[in-house]
Amino acid sequence: MARKYRIAVIGGDGTGPEVVREGLKVLRVAAEGCGFAYETTDFDYGGQRYLASGGDPEKPTVPVITDEEVRALKAYDAIYLGAVGHPKVAPGILEKGLLLKLRFDLDQYINLRPVKLYPGVECPLADKGPEDIDFLIVRENTEGLYSGMGGVQYKGTPHEVATQIMCNTRRGVERCIRYAFEACKRRRDKGLLTLVAKTNVLTYAHDLWRRAFMEVGEEYPDITKDYNHVDACCMWMVKNPEYYDTIVTCNMFGDIITDLGAMIQGGMGIAAGGNINPEGVSMFEPIGGSAPKYTGQNKINPLAAIGALAMLVRELGEEEAADRIEAAIAYVTATKLGSLAAGKMGCTTSEVGDLVAEAVAKGLKP
Ligand code: IPM
Ligand code: MN
Repeated sequence: MARKYRIAVIGGDGTGPEVVREGLKVLRVAAEGCGFAYETTDFDYGGQRYLASGGDPEKPTVPVITDEEVRALKAYDAIYLGAVGHPKVAPGILEKGLLLKLRFDLDQYINLRPVKLYPGVECPLADKGPEDIDFLIVRENTEGLYSGMGGVQYKGTPHEVATQIMCNTRRGVERCIRYAFEACKRRRDKGLLTLVAKTNVLTYAHDLWRRAFMEVGEEYPDITKDYNHVDACCMWMVKNPEYYDTIVTCNMFGDIITDLGAMIQGGMGIAAGGNINPEGVSMFEPIGGSAPKYTGQNKINPLAAIGALAMLVRELGEEEAADRIEAAIAYVTATKLGSLAAGKMGCTTSEVGDLVAEAVAKGLKP
């Protein structure tokens, strides 16, 4: 029977809809070439809709997305997200009300972020090439400093107290670590999994991570269990990125080191990620933001969104399509683009989408 998937599309704000359009262009060609079918449903969740429905930080009764809307997304096989962030909406509202709400309520407990330097892409690190920069970061995605626990007292007075709790559960940490061991095994790279944490300071929270890592690690005798403090990891990512195979880390550290990762792979124009619930519905997005200044100009780089699309089809089990899209991205970066930066690519957003779609159709590789 023909494989058919239902994909929820949330273009979101700013340049989100533009880059998602290019991803969907590539999906059409990949599906034809690889023999699967799909249907997409658009959702207008984002800053625009929030403002139109009277959203205002002073009126928390207007939700960015409702529980029912989140529940309805569970009926899809995957979610494809463009960007979250609107210049007229106060920071934190859309992030918490949409992006983090989706990650939490859909229990997307893994944030998978490959750091891969494609051929032809300018790297800010001297003397490093695609063979040096190719590793995977597995970021925990539902706990840690993102749990939303904490509070404030005596606000606005000299006695103000503010706490933000780094919440780690054994179950949450363990399932993330187990996923990372499996991901490391699947990569068939060096068989090296590095736990990135701060056990010398976070002596409770990251001691839990360390023990869970060592205990789960006993189930994986073929994988080398490695440890880096997060500050040292930042240093190595710049000095010796070729050292890494797979990294597993907590939510906050993962947020930070994946931006560093994005820079060494050529910038936000190419960095893709997946919010994964291996037992439920996962959501794929370019890591960069909504880039308000480029909105509607056909200048933004859609490759990160196209890379996210490749991750989406891989999660659906369409390995051949995913491989073809990734090869097509590599073909385009190696042969067609000047730079990956918005406005400097030497092509428009839609032209980049056309180039990748054509390369997918023809099965081109660099
Ligand atoms: C990311 C973003 C988000 C995060 C923000 C927008 C809440 O920076 O996806 O990395 O911190 O996770
Ligand atoms: Mn981030």
